[in-house]
Amino acid sequence: MTFDDEAGDRLAVVVGAGGGLGRAFVEELRGEPGWAKVVGVGRRRPDDWPDDPRLPFLAADLLDEDALANLASALSKLGVPGLILIATGMLHEPGVTPEKSMKAVTAASLSRLFEVNAMLPALVCKHLAPLLPRAERSVIAALSARVGSIGDNRLGGWHAYRSSKAALNMLIRCQAIELARERPLAICAALHPGTVDTPLSAPFARASRSVETPGVAVARLLKLLHQLEPADSGGFFDYGGATVPW
Ligand SMILES: NC(=O)c1ccc[n+]([C@@H]2O[C@H](COP(=O)([O-])OP(=O)(O)OC[C@H]3O[C@@H](n4cnc5c(N)ncnc54)[C@H](OP(=O)(O)O)[C@@H]3O)[C@@H](O)[C@H]2O)c1
Repeated sequence: MTFDDEAGDRLAVVVGAGGGLGRAFVEELRGEPGWAKVVGVGRRRPDDWPDDPRLPFLAADLLDEDALANLASALSKLGVPGLILIATGMLHEPGVTPEKSMKAVTAASLSRLFEVNAMLPALVCKHLAPLLPRAERSVIAALSARVGSIGDNRLGGWHAYRSSKAALNMLIRCQAIELARERPLAICAALHPGTVDTPLSAPFARASRSVETPGVAVARLLKLLHQLEPADSGGFFDYGGATVPW
């Protein structure tokens, strides 16, 4: 491990740290200089989370505003986040399957995916973005998906997932505009990680030609995040740095 003893109180925070991409972000970030701690956040601490004071895990109900306020308070006691990655999201769960046609759309699946994919990251932004430093470069980014692009949608299907990610993109854009007023060096972005081998993609990724490991996917996303400048804030980028159409 190469935690940086000169990193002062700078934190990298991974929300959804128990997921396929979230856990890989934690592993990659613990090897990066510049972070005093890499803080995992999620609804529950994974059983195999390392017992390491430089890798604290904060458990919270991420859909509950009181819990999020307590989370922000707990984080502020650990340090100042220079990087906040929101790696939560869902595509399927028992009773929720991506739709093949409008006939399959239900109020329940729309409501659930909007709750997890759009509302949850927005509430995390609301409570955690105020912790970003005011006068130095910082990043808050959420994992979106290219299928959330309205302009790029030529196949249809996956109605609830696609539209919940489109809503997320708008919320990230709104957050970026507000952040620019008070934290002009902060960067707020939506990211497409590519198709990655995780529990979320497992039932569907076989059909895709290029499935990456979480390690490769997060390494290229972190490379991109280190290159982004404040002028890029509010953008929707894929893992190669290309702008994805809204
Ligand atoms: N994998 C891909 O190919 C792919 C492609 C495009 C975009 N993405 C996006 O990348 C992000 C991460 O996906 P992944 O592939 O890493 O999926 P994953 O392995 O299924 O991880 C999903 C994460 O979201 C958390 N989560 C889900 N529902 C939640 C809820 N109600 N409350 C709190 N946390 C919740 C999970 O928490 P628990 O650990 O507690 O279950 C887990 O940390 C998602 O936004 C996804 O849409 C993935």
